[in-house]
Amino acid sequence: MTMRVESHDLFPVHVKVFDFEDDPLLNDALVAAARSEPELRVSTSGKSVLERGDDWARRLRARYDVALRAFLNDTHPGRTRPFDLEAYVFFNYTDGSSFTPVHDHLIEADLIAIYYATAPVREERHDTSYYAMDEGILVLHDPRADARTDRRGLAHRDHFRIYPKTNRLVVHPASLRHSVTPSSGYERLAVTCAVTVDRKDLFEGYVRYELR
Ligand SMILES: [Fe+2]
Repeated sequence: MTMRVESHDLFPVHVKVFDFEDDPLLNDALVAAARSEPELRVSTSGKSVLERGDDWARRLRARYDVALRAFLNDTHPGRTRPFDLEAYVFFNYTDGSSFTPVHDHLIEADLIAIYYATAPVREERHDTSYYAMDEGILVLHDPRADARTDRRGLAHRDHFRIYPKTNRLVVHPASLRHSVTPSSGYERLAVTCAVTVDRKDLFEGYVRYELR
């Protein structure tokens, strides 16, 4: 019997993980700022982080630039027109027990870039029991409603684990749901950059609408 067969792995989710070389000047300054300026930890007042003139803000920005440029180059092959980006940065700092439930950033962003300024060094374990995940790890959830029929590897499970690690930067689409497993108490500083891409190109004709 002859037949024509096509296989498509459709709608992949692109995620990039960068492990930069150690930059104690950046990381120590970020942690010091997180400890001494609690307002930077509020996810609705982080705009100032990118606008600050501090040396650490410039160093942080340089890392975001590398990661975002690489991600956008991957996902927009052949694009020569510049990207129109807007960004919002806030600190996610914990020095006690913590847990982040499943969420996404679909409303406020197109891309999320998370930089870990400090996180405990641990062995990365990707194939342990579903019910025995390590503390404080970032879990990316499969966007498909039911992924039971495909079990070819780690990327085809219903989740993928990313271990926070000092100098690590993760970029993923804002639509991708994620969570952080509970941790019983250690210091972790994640600096999250929420980025919109070409939002102004999406629709024409929006005007201010006043309810009367
Ligand atoms: Fe998040």
